[in-house]
Amino acid sequence: MAEAKRSQWGSKVGFVLAAAGSAVGLGNLWKFPYITGENGGGAFVLIYLFCILLVGVPIMVGEVYVGKLAQKAPVGAFGDLTPLGSPWKLVGALGVLAGFVILSYYSVVAGWAMHYVYLAATGAFSGAETAEEIAAVGAHFGALYANPGANIFWHTLFMAITVGIVTVGIQKGVELASRIMMPALFVMLIALVIYATTLDGFDRAVGFVFGFHTDQLTGGGVLEALGHSFFTLSLGMGAMLTYGSYMKKEDGVVATSFIISGLDTAVALMACLALFPITFSYGMEAAAGPGLVFVNMPTAFAQMPGGTLWAILFFVLLTFAALTSAISLLEVVASYFIDELKWPRWRAVALTGGAIFLFGIPSALSGGTELFGSGFQSKIQSVFGGDGKNWFDSLDYLASNWMLPLGGLGIALFASWRIEEVKRREALLGERTEGAPLAAYLAWLWILRVVAPVAIVLVMLHALGVL
Ligand code: TRP
Repeated sequence: MAEAKRSQWGSKVGFVLAAAGSAVGLGNLWKFPYITGENGGGAFVLIYLFCILLVGVPIMVGEVYVGKLAQKAPVGAFGDLTPLGSPWKLVGALGVLAGFVILSYYSVVAGWAMHYVYLAATGAFSGAETAEEIAAVGAHFGALYANPGANIFWHTLFMAITVGIVTVGIQKGVELASRIMMPALFVMLIALVIYATTLDGFDRAVGFVFGFHTDQLTGGGVLEALGHSFFTLSLGMGAMLTYGSYMKKEDGVVATSFIISGLDTAVALMACLALFPITFSYGMEAAAGPGLVFVNMPTAFAQMPGGTLWAILFFVLLTFAALTSAISLLEVVASYFIDELKWPRWRAVALTGGAIFLFGIPSALSGGTELFGSGFQSKIQSVFGGDGKNWFDSLDYLASNWMLPLGGLGIALFASWRIEEVKRREALLGERTEGAPLAAYLAWLWILRVVAPVAIVLVMLHALGVL
């Protein structure tokens, strides 16, 4: 079938913003602050930064690079760059599956963020003075969690928006959406951080996030930092590979990977600098767990002047961040059908998006049915911690602890050990001389060959309970 010219990003900035949009998500604004809180701040943050720089960035370079070389979505990319029948294709297939699984529950959490925009806009988070009024603000979350209708409604709406944007395509859909939403996100976050600097708790928050105190750091925390560096950079399932496949020849892989990782890290740290001052100033705990966003933030908003406005701002931000990440998850799944089965984009997106939507329904119902037990707090705690107790947790556990590390392992090994074979390709030679000194290239190669695989195996052993 004569296929139209493959999509490409309209500009390098468009690519960087879309990839940063994928990376910046619930992982940055929700998960990172709360795991930082639970691990006692300071040293945990330092180790996380170390993981990003030493493992995350090199793998991202590898992933974007493989995509750019192959000009294909994951399965086809691995298939193209290796001999026929290669098992490497499985790494790509695992990625498509991971995208499917992650988006199905990610959409449910994103739906909560949208529900909170609605709550904020209707004045639910303002003018709380008495202890009762303050408690009522926090109780919204339990009510939402146990309400199947609301969960399904927001899950449906969020998936519909995601499908709509991805259907429109790379330049006019994904790129345009990111170009508008990413800068808006940065502006909103900066505004929140500036507000936070005016609070009493700001100094304490800075000390908490950047001070080096190891007292609460455990071995598990170190591994959690490593695992999170995969999730937050959207690595290990071919999302960055797919985005790289739409790159133009002349755009460099290394510089863009650093920029994307830098933006992602900046957002995660800014999220901490917005959340912790508020948490401390309003007498709440850093180690509040996942409630940090859905309980603590509204509780603070409800007591501050102009709370409704801040609350709307914050949850719109959370929704934007989730949307640009969801787009990348759907794009990976859909592009498999576009590239391999030559389906038209609209059909691939509609069918895969529809299937993911259906697969997400049990997640949306997790809180409202007897089947999944009661006690929303402990359940929410396991949403991203994943102790596998219900549908929602089991999916996240499977995706975060198994699929992403395995995929990352595959991508690291593929990009580094197969490089001798791939190197003969003209494109690679151009890439290697992109400006990076030989020493940097060799360091990258050995990180992917040895350091990253060892680190990933440690994460998996941790997930198994061996460590
Ligand atoms: N990185 C996003 C976040 O921090 C989530 C995400 C989007 C993701 N695409 C991904 C995670 C691909 C792993 C793989 O919320």
